[in-house]
Amino acid sequence: MSTKTEFASKIGLIAATVGSAIGLGNVWRFPAETQSNGGAAFLLLYILCVLALGIPVMLAEFSLGRGGRSDAIGAFCNLSPGKKWWIIGAVAVLASYLILCYYMVVAGWTLEYLVQSLTGNLYAGTGCAVADDPAAMRGFFDGKMQEYVCSDFAPLAFTFLMIIINGAVLMGGVQKGIERLSNVLMPLLFLILVGMCILTLNLPDAGEGVKYFLSPDFSKITPRVIINALGQAFFSLSLGMGILITYSSYYPADTKLTRTSVIVAFLSLLVAILMGLIIFPAVKSFGLDKESLEGSTLVFVTLPEVFASLPLARLWSSLFFLLLLVAALTSTVSIAEVSIAMLQDRLKMKRWKAVLIILCPLFVVSAACSLSFGSLSNLTIANLTIFGFLDGLTTNVLLPITSLAVCLYMGWFAPKGLLADELSNYGTVRSRVTGTVLFIIRYIAPVLIALIFIFNFI
Ligand code: PHE
Repeated sequence: MSTKTEFASKIGLIAATVGSAIGLGNVWRFPAETQSNGGAAFLLLYILCVLALGIPVMLAEFSLGRGGRSDAIGAFCNLSPGKKWWIIGAVAVLASYLILCYYMVVAGWTLEYLVQSLTGNLYAGTGCAVADDPAAMRGFFDGKMQEYVCSDFAPLAFTFLMIIINGAVLMGGVQKGIERLSNVLMPLLFLILVGMCILTLNLPDAGEGVKYFLSPDFSKITPRVIINALGQAFFSLSLGMGILITYSSYYPADTKLTRTSVIVAFLSLLVAILMGLIIFPAVKSFGLDKESLEGSTLVFVTLPEVFASLPLARLWSSLFFLLLLVAALTSTVSIAEVSIAMLQDRLKMKRWKAVLIILCPLFVVSAACSLSFGSLSNLTIANLTIFGFLDGLTTNVLLPITSLAVCLYMGWFAPKGLLADELSNYGTVRSRVTGTVLFIIRYIAPVLIALIFIFNFI
């Protein structure tokens, strides 16, 4: 008899997985990467990487999770008992926890900006003095960012609030917490995205931005751009973090893995593309495309400049930061679930206890990450702030290692036939892709992931 937790419905499991995949990686990292890697050519490479590599590696994680029917460590223990493969799972759990520590801070900023948009504080003072002077406007929002992100108290308070909100969702469990939240928030996210797209595509000169985003200049493709597209594809699909292994252990036996992976990848791509269609026309229309569109200033400085110039600034701004918050929240709960599931499955711990043990230390570690933009900015590890160190260690080192190890395990060392059995639901559905997936995770993905790893250090 199986007492393993499962998602309650097909829609719910897709909403939860999509909710994890769609995070700040799609809505904020993607436009910034596109801008710094030459526009449409990057988009094309990113789509290619998601389809040709992202989906196969996602299928490897799904098969591992559902086949292993346990948390990220337990899955390896169940499939290869007595062997040391569980260490891969342990590294994934560690990576996911470290990501959670700093991602919670960024999630806190999105909540803070939402609150400041709703109350109007973000735009208080953008009156006639700065409205007609782009440099003054930029300075104004730079100042706001200093106040909201780099001060000590406010960002800390919002980070704590996010930890508490995550706790409330996670206490509800997989079905009543995560699945229910995703069922409500994912449709909301798409609704806001489409609404904002309609707004920005109707701005004057929006076509210029669309052209920049959608007509590729192939001369811009360099090995560095390819590597960045690959890294972006892996991050935005939540690969290598143990999330997909954990979530797929909650998939019922009749879930069609291939179809699920295609839907998740497609929706994640769609969100990235819609985001591009919001951001590029907006910044082109206001002539802000010469500004650096680097990650955090893009969403916290450049876009508020755009909103401030529109009628109903507060409304658009609130909707946009709500969108960011939704993306961040469904991702933070998914990444916290990796460690919670581990404590529940490995140590047979009660859920509420596991949730507390995982979230309480964040009040210290995430606080330190938050303060690394303020009072603790001089405290460095390897020349990086605490936040920068955790980000670099996870994205550049731990994630490529776990993705590579999962590919090697599923390609060469997992029980024979596991991938074929999982993709065909043990012979009950036809799977025409097993051979191709196996080929990619055996030969192609490991080489390319190793390349990302090496390139990050040169
Ligand atoms: N795909 C997620 C994103 O785009 C990756 C992620 C998931 C990161 C969960 C952190 C937490 O943001």
